[in-house]
Parts: sequence; structure tokens; C-alpha cells
Amino acid sequence: MNELNVVIDSAKASFARAATPADLENAKALFLGKSGSITELMKGLAALPVDQKKSRGAAINLAKQAIEAALNQRRQALADVELQAQLQAEALDVTLPGRQRGQGGLHPVSLTLERIEAIFASMGFAVAQGPEIETDWFNFTALNTPEDHPARSMHDTFYVEGGSADAPHLLRTHTSPMQIRYAVQHVKQQRAASGAGPVGEALFAGTMPEIRVIAPGRTYRVDSDATHSPMFHQCEGLWVGENISFKDLKFVFTDFCRTFFESDDLVLRFRPSFFPFTEPSAEIDIQFQSGPLAGRWLEVAGSGQVHPNVIRNMGLEPEKYIGFAFGMGPDRLTMLRYGVNDLRLFFDGDIRFLSQFQ
Ligand code: DAH
Repeated sequence: MNELNVVIDSAKASFARAATPADLENAKALFLGKSGSITELMKGLAALPVDQKKSRGAAINLAKQAIEAALNQRRQALADVELQAQLQAEALDVTLPGRQRGQGGLHPVSLTLERIEAIFASMGFAVAQGPEIETDWFNFTALNTPEDHPARSMHDTFYVEGGSADAPHLLRTHTSPMQIRYAVQHVKQQRAASGAGPVGEALFAGTMPEIRVIAPGRTYRVDSDATHSPMFHQCEGLWVGENISFKDLKFVFTDFCRTFFESDDLVLRFRPSFFPFTEPSAEIDIQFQSGPLAGRWLEVAGSGQVHPNVIRNMGLEPEKYIGFAFGMGPDRLTMLRYGVNDLRLFFDGDIRFLSQFQ
């Protein structure tokens, strides 16, 4: 092999060994630098006789070009490697699913509450909210359930700090205290408007707009199984005026149930019962005439004509004012409407269950 080929091969080998662009520039200096092999060979030309100079010079030039070509090739290869590494490091997987904003929705019981409110609003009922921490007075005593009344034992509840021995605070066991709260407020306004004097003087027997209100909300009892949860919902209804009777209750509640369940194929039964705050009292049962629940009586509410003692505690004269009240279970209505058989599913917070209602 001639001497120039040896230099070319050695240049190619040392370029191949260069792992980085900096290594490669050092290797280049060995051959093409000021005292590199090719440069030295060029210097040697000066000593040659004229007739050999030309061909020798041309051969060295060819060798130089071959080395430069190898150098550029290697430069390109190293740049490619670097680019690949960078691309890999900064790689974006464009096939990954994008980040989505979760779509929220209302809880099935909230959907029911909205439905109840809309239906009663269409019948002229106001919607009132009240405190979940109640006093013994509003939850029991004002509702004709004094301290030693046996009906209290059906309402075992959670007592909370903040009250006093004779006026304890508790988590309300039903929405019925809102009957008193709302009516007292209403009567106070009427007294002020008609100049009847402050509350507490005498029961109000003047003329006033009727009280027509529903009060939905959370309620609490020491109770837990497939159809009872320690926290549950109720919706109270109250209509008090000068001439409101059981027939109005029947009409209103029948209309409500048929609208709620979107079915005229539904009958109601008012089954005699007892509540301290109503007299007479009735449980309201409904029966579907068709569909999966057909033929069974299903209890949906307690109701009755407001007891005169309760009318008094509202600040109203029972000789003049009379009305009806009811308390229904929106959780139960939700179960019936959607065919759910375990109440606890509503409060477990399992998104797989809840998302089915959207
Ligand atoms: N508060 C009763 C309960 O929780 C339900 C009830 C019954 C409410 C009769 C009423 C009513 O307003 O008139 O068991």
C-alpha cells in the first residue's frame, strides 16, 4: 500500500474513533493542522525535483480531499447522533389522551330536590331553608312534642355542644321545625304591617296572606340500614290560611305526585296515623297502576291538619287559622323514580353510581 493510502486510512480510523465533535476536531489537527501529516507532506514537496513535484503534489491533494471528505462525513454522523439524542430526550407522545376538564353534575337527590321545588313553586309555594343545628324548642316542643312525650323516642338524634341544659342544641330530626320558623317570621311581618303590636302580646287574628311554603333540607337520626341513613333528606310543606282543609292537602299532594312521577296512572291513599303536630294525621301512600312497582303501596310522606297548639306556637289564633302540613322523603322518591334499592348508594360517593344520573 502506498504511503498516502496509509495516511488516509489512519485518518479515517481516528475520525471513526472520535466520539464527540471536540474529539473529531482534535483528530483533524493531526492530519490537516499546521503540523499535521498532510501539511508535512506538502512541505516535503519543496525538496523534490521539478519533474516529480507536479504529480506528487496532485497525489497529496487527492489524499487531502479524501481526508476532508471523511472528516465531513464523520462530522455529519456525529451531528446526526446528537440530534437524535436531543429528539429522544425532548420526545412528546402526541398519542397520549389530552387533559380533560371533568364534567360535573348534580347528585340524584339534588335533582329530586330541584324537581320538588319547581313543582311546588308552580303551585305558589315559597321555598325556605333553615338551620341543620336546631334547638330543642323548634325541633320538638313547639311542635307539640314536650320533653316527656313518647313520640320523642322515635327521633333519637345527635346532641351538639352550644346549647344549655334546658335548651339543648341538636341536629334536626326532621324539617318540621321550619314550619314554626317560617310561620313566626311571616306573622311578625304581618303584625308589623298591620300595626297589631309586637309578637307575644296576643295571638294574631288579623287578615294576612296565606302561608304557603316548602322547606327541603338535610335531617339526622341515629339510624342506619339499607333504607335509613344517619343523614337523610326531608321536604316539609305547610299551607295555612283561613279555610285550608284536608281536601286541599289531597289535591296538592296528588297533583305533586303525578307531576313528579310523570304519570296519571298513580293513586294515593291517606292512611290514618299519629303525629304530635297534626290532628288528624295521615301517612300518604302511593300506588302505581302499571310499571315495575305496580300494585304495591309505597309510603312517601307523613301529613295532617296542623294541630291548634302548633298554630298557637306560630303566633296565630287557631280559631281563625287552619291548615295542613306534610313531610316527605326526597331520598325515597329518588329511589322510586330511578329504581334504586339501597339508600346508602346515594351517600357512598361512588362516581360509577353517581355518574349514571347525568
Ligand atoms: N316530621 C315527620 C317525621 O319526620 C313527618 C311529618 C308528618 C311532617 C306529618 C309533617 C306532618 O309536616 O304533618 O316523621
